[in-house]
Amino acid sequence: ELGDYAHFMEKEIFEQPQALENAMRGRFAEDGSTANFGGLNLSANELRATSRLMFCACGTAMFAGLVTEHLVERFARIPVECDHASEFRYRNTPLFSNTLFFVISQSGETIDTLAAMREAQRKGFKVLAINNVVGSTIAREADGGIYQHAGPEIGVASTKAFTSQLMIGAMLALYLGRIRDMSFRDGVEIVKALKAAPDLVREALQQADHIKQIAQRYAQVSDMLFLGRLELFPIAAEGALKLKEISYIHAEAYPAAEMKHGPIALINADCPSVFLVPNNELFNKVVSSMQEIKARGGPIIAITTDDADLPEGLADDVITIPACHEAVLPIVATIPLQLFSYYVAVERGCDVDKPRNLAKSVTVE
Ligand code: F6R
Repeated sequence: ELGDYAHFMEKEIFEQPQALENAMRGRFAEDGSTANFGGLNLSANELRATSRLMFCACGTAMFAGLVTEHLVERFARIPVECDHASEFRYRNTPLFSNTLFFVISQSGETIDTLAAMREAQRKGFKVLAINNVVGSTIAREADGGIYQHAGPEIGVASTKAFTSQLMIGAMLALYLGRIRDMSFRDGVEIVKALKAAPDLVREALQQADHIKQIAQRYAQVSDMLFLGRLELFPIAAEGALKLKEISYIHAEAYPAAEMKHGPIALINADCPSVFLVPNNELFNKVVSSMQEIKARGGPIIAITTDDADLPEGLADDVITIPACHEAVLPIVATIPLQLFSYYVAVERGCDVDKPRNLAKSVTVE
């Protein structure tokens, strides 16, 4: 089953272009300006009346919810909240009646996510599930939903299921935008951008050898920071989680500008930082954060877009990804982080597909 790959994680990282195609297949409207989902079981009226979205999920799936929060707020101007399912279930948060409630779960068996869903249903909400495993408990109990069609994910660390959730989140943001105030023209632009995602991911995957060489040089560190802003902050968090899970290196993520409020005290020559620094409206701000880290002797790995002009010598290592639309950037920026943690873990001799203390789906509280 592994073919030419050494681990399922590696195989699943390289399967992402296909998983993204599968998430999109048959889901764009004929006019090319929006997405459609057959399984939501909600009328356009119900969706139009939505005044708030809530996402509950755990771990990697929650980071997909946090990215989706940015895109839905930007494209559809609907306020979004995203919570850890394990917290939501006991938090008794007030929910307005026009809240559209989503859970996100690859396996569809995560007990905390299932409990959050049941709690929302008990309060009278319809719950929609973004889920990969067809016929899972969450899929069966949900009032509607969107299947990911990413194919089986065997490696314990989530890879292709995550980027597939990001794709569905982007399509959902587009869909909700188009039933509100997003123009035909903007919709067409986003559809084109999403359709380009598989090729952009293929391009990012071509950096594998370069990333492997970098990973081998950092494999013996004991702490790392992952820094990004806006929709790339949850991607930084996912990068840190991936590294922790499979290499057992302590890693933390922060919105880059938060460093000066405390975590910068950690910086020294033994604590490298990975910066996500695309050419966007915050480019110069992130570059300033990088300069603050460099001034304190912290090694820097920069993940940047090929249209950006990083100051010479600022980063010790640079990984370039193709410039792309903001709806797709979180997907493309995830690729080098997955490859980095994978190659670090391999270099350390870790059991990549079955990390210690972890199970593929967490069915106990
Ligand atoms: C991380 C990882 C976990 C899961 C989390 C939720 O690589 O796999 O953080 O994302 O346990 O699992 P699902 O999506 O199956 O509910």
